[in-house]
Amino acid sequence: MSIPKVEVRNGQKVLLVDDRPFYLLSGELHNSSSSTLEYMEPIWDKMQALHLNSLLFPVTWQQVEPVEGEFHFELVDGLIEQAKAHGMKFGILWFGSWKNAACSYAPDWVKTDLERFPRAEVVKGKSFNEVPFKLFKMRYTTLSAFAEETARMDARAFAKLCAHLKEYDTDHTVILIQVENETGILGASRDHSDLADAAFREKVPQELIQGLLERKDGLVEDVKEALEKCQDGTWEEVFGSAADEMLMAYYTAKHIETVAAAGKAEYPLPMYANCWLVQGGKPGDYPSGGPVYRVMEVYQTVAKSLDWVAPDIYIPQFIDTCEKYTKQGNPLFIPEIALQFRATSRLMYAIGHHHALCFAPFGIEDIGNLADTSLGALVGMDTSDPALKNPLLFDVYARANELLQGLMPVLTSLYGTENLNALIEEKEEERTMTFGKISISAAFGFGTMSMTGAGALIAAKTAENEFYLLGYGCLPEFESLDSENPFIEFLSIEEGEFVNGEWVMHRLLNGDEEHIHFGTAPSLLRIRTHQFS
Ligand code: DGJ
Repeated sequence: MSIPKVEVRNGQKVLLVDDRPFYLLSGELHNSSSSTLEYMEPIWDKMQALHLNSLLFPVTWQQVEPVEGEFHFELVDGLIEQAKAHGMKFGILWFGSWKNAACSYAPDWVKTDLERFPRAEVVKGKSFNEVPFKLFKMRYTTLSAFAEETARMDARAFAKLCAHLKEYDTDHTVILIQVENETGILGASRDHSDLADAAFREKVPQELIQGLLERKDGLVEDVKEALEKCQDGTWEEVFGSAADEMLMAYYTAKHIETVAAAGKAEYPLPMYANCWLVQGGKPGDYPSGGPVYRVMEVYQTVAKSLDWVAPDIYIPQFIDTCEKYTKQGNPLFIPEIALQFRATSRLMYAIGHHHALCFAPFGIEDIGNLADTSLGALVGMDTSDPALKNPLLFDVYARANELLQGLMPVLTSLYGTENLNALIEEKEEERTMTFGKISISAAFGFGTMSMTGAGALIAAKTAENEFYLLGYGCLPEFESLDSENPFIEFLSIEEGEFVNGEWVMHRLLNGDEEHIHFGTAPSLLRIRTHQFS
């Protein structure tokens, strides 16, 4: 089998695992869960029962290279064995120089040598920041993105990890790697260290200007306008008020590229970077320099070893975020999203509408423990979101994953085509999908649905007049758009699922059940239609 890789099919990036298209029905674990095998042991059983096919969790610089030049891979090997025993894959989150705009996962020998590994300065001479955050104080200090030695050492450790995976993980249990975690600087729009000041006074590299011009269509308005006026000059001359964030994005992307390229040279797994989203405010209120949509083209120009950039979604604007992160050929890959009752419909919409590669609620091991969503998981979350008040139900989410696992070959074969689409209750302005001469609509929010706002419908057209519908909390309706054959009827409606690649029918629906009604658990139908006049 070849190693996991990314391929473009029908103009869309798809992930191939064991040579077959794959989407990650996943969850990201709390930051500390994968730090010991003992703690992980019961988590695997629970995640298997949730019908996930994969997990995302950290492997850290702190634990891989606790002493400079001494590398430890026993933990990662043990995690690989545990995953294999549970028939699951996983993605590594490389917590290196950055973790949520801070450097808490750098090893001691990096943290304590401030000369060799300088910190970013939020104002001249001050390299830490304290932000009062609800119940406690968040302390931030970040390694400077302008220090080449930091990137070199981070890259060396990462390359050793990748080389080790190549040798040890011959079954490809590790399928991809996130390089760093939520990079950038908080509390200032740019680093004010001497290194950063010197870079700020220089001219913008032409490599960046040309890369942005090639991707002009995707650029946000202020950056596009600035570039139209000036294509040669210092950061301030070219980018005006966006200068600080562009500078930070360029140098942060360069650091990430140094790390990712060193890893890929050893073992070219798919790699990506994630971001703490713009949540209103100015750069520095969110980490300045991370791969937010405003600077996605900087990352595409500089961090060529990355296969995509990914949003961590803790804000209510799910639909808008998905749209922002699917520009410029970037596939939707959601490594973190709030664990709440809308996750089922969002999973279905991400896969059905955006042909997503991954959907992973954060702190997934908490599912079912209603009282146990730890405070840590709320850090950075928009807690005003009313959706957070309702939990994600284990059985509902498990069934959605189970059905989606079975459907994976059908759905991924339609990725990048118009024959796969989805509706979601929270996108009120869209209630109809069109497939050639047939439209499928959905009504949501009816009486039997215990938690309105959580419905979704995926439709996959697999042949002329044949569809798979995966529904949750909605009433679908078919219409003929063919003026010559305006009447549409059902030839058959089979309720069932794919088991080991074979369709298994559980019920043949007709009579009262012909008025299709997807209730409080996701279910899957195979439908054959007939149009006539
Ligand atoms: C986003 C980070 O990427 C995660 O590691 C974790 O800290 C969550 N926030 C907590 O909500």
